[in-house]
Amino acid sequence: MSIKIREDLIYVGGNDEKLSSFDNMYSLPKGMSFNAYLIKDDKNILISTIEKGEGDIKYYDADPQVSRDFISRIKEELNGETLDYLIAQHLEPDHSGSIEDIVKEFKDVKIVTSSMGKNFLKALSPNIPDDSILVGGPNLNIQTANHSLKFIPAPLVHWPDVLFVYDEKTGDLYSSDAFGTFGKNEHLFADEYNQDEEFFSEMRRYYTNIVGKFGTNVISALNNVSKLNISTILPLHGPIWRKDFDKIISKYTSWASYTPEDNSFMVVTGSIYGHTAKAAEALKKFIPGGKYFDASKTNISYLVSEAFKVKTIVIASITHEGEIFPPIEDFLIRLTHLGLKGRNFAIIENGLWLPTAGKKIKEYIEKIPSSTLIEPIITIKGSLKEEQNKDLDLLASKIKETF
Ligand SMILES: Cc1cc2nc3c(=O)[nH]c(=O)nc-3n(C[C@H](O)[C@H](O)[C@H](O)COP(=O)(O)O)c2cc1C
Ligand SMILES: [Fe+2]
Ligand SMILES: [Fe+2]
Repeated sequence: MSIKIREDLIYVGGNDEKLSSFDNMYSLPKGMSFNAYLIKDDKNILISTIEKGEGDIKYYDADPQVSRDFISRIKEELNGETLDYLIAQHLEPDHSGSIEDIVKEFKDVKIVTSSMGKNFLKALSPNIPDDSILVGGPNLNIQTANHSLKFIPAPLVHWPDVLFVYDEKTGDLYSSDAFGTFGKNEHLFADEYNQDEEFFSEMRRYYTNIVGKFGTNVISALNNVSKLNISTILPLHGPIWRKDFDKIISKYTSWASYTPEDNSFMVVTGSIYGHTAKAAEALKKFIPGGKYFDASKTNISYLVSEAFKVKTIVIASITHEGEIFPPIEDFLIRLTHLGLKGRNFAIIENGLWLPTAGKKIKEYIEKIPSSTLIEPIITIKGSLKEEQNKDLDLLASKIKETF
């Protein structure tokens, strides 16, 4: 069902509740939304398409009905009128998957994208004719009676081809993946949600995993749009924002600058038979709070998200075949890839014959800019010994000192 945002602006995106993970990597307990917007004026303009759930190439376990319904909604809304423009803000297939279907239905449509986006479109869909592609940049302006669309490049937020679209007449900012979130859209507008910790933690999990590497580019994009008079922010995933901009901009500013959101800490354990996890949990006797995660049982996206939030990360890992326990190493690799910086780390290692995990974890931490290792590394052989409680007590007091 399409939803009227305003008389001439229609939400035509959809929710996929069957898709089990985003990017085939980040779990989706509450599904995923794929937004698209239709401007109906003296020209008809579609802003973005959505994932493709069927055909030769489809988006993993995407529900094919979602993309079928998307095409039907647009045909129904246009009721025989032509579609003049399709704006492809970003060619990642979660938004470009249905472009070919749109071109099949609306043969004369002009596809607007960035010059990089044009290359990606040709690479993904070689049959799209050149003369149906328009390159949107600072000089292109699409005018209708009540809309005036400008194109603002937002490179690497989070692909090189990204275009924000700003409607000078309405103040609508189409922000591509920025300000998106995981989960289906239960409501159209963000202010209709109870904006509790869970709401923002899903936004954080989305931001950190998808856009987290590109903090510098996010800051420039935020600077570029700060000069605009924005009435509404319309992202390609998640609800539409029509107020509370300060709230999300301040969240984005701290995430993009890799600044911890508060004085909290997380403990990530990598343990097979439970001794290392039990040793890490003994920290609770000496310091309250903290979020504890089993790296083997937790989708890595949650670990990454929490790492961006907290000030201190305690890693407790067994030595496994002379190496770091693999789920812990995956987490450390991911942190270095995403460019996280400025965190305190502490290490608890376990090893029955030759504990070497701690030294190897330290090597990763050294690659994380402006990070501090809270020393010493605590080494356990098998189980935590009674006399080692004082080491945990000392570690707890050093964590408290960072608050
Ligand atoms: C598959 C496997 C490989 C291990 N490899 C090593 C090793 O290379 N060096 C070492 O000192 N301990 C090794 N250990 C022992 C563990 O580091 C650890 O002490 C033991 O698993 C108990 O901790 P846990 O109950 O937290 O799993 C290994 C254990 C397992 C199960
Ligand atoms: Fe994307
Ligand atoms: Fe996306």
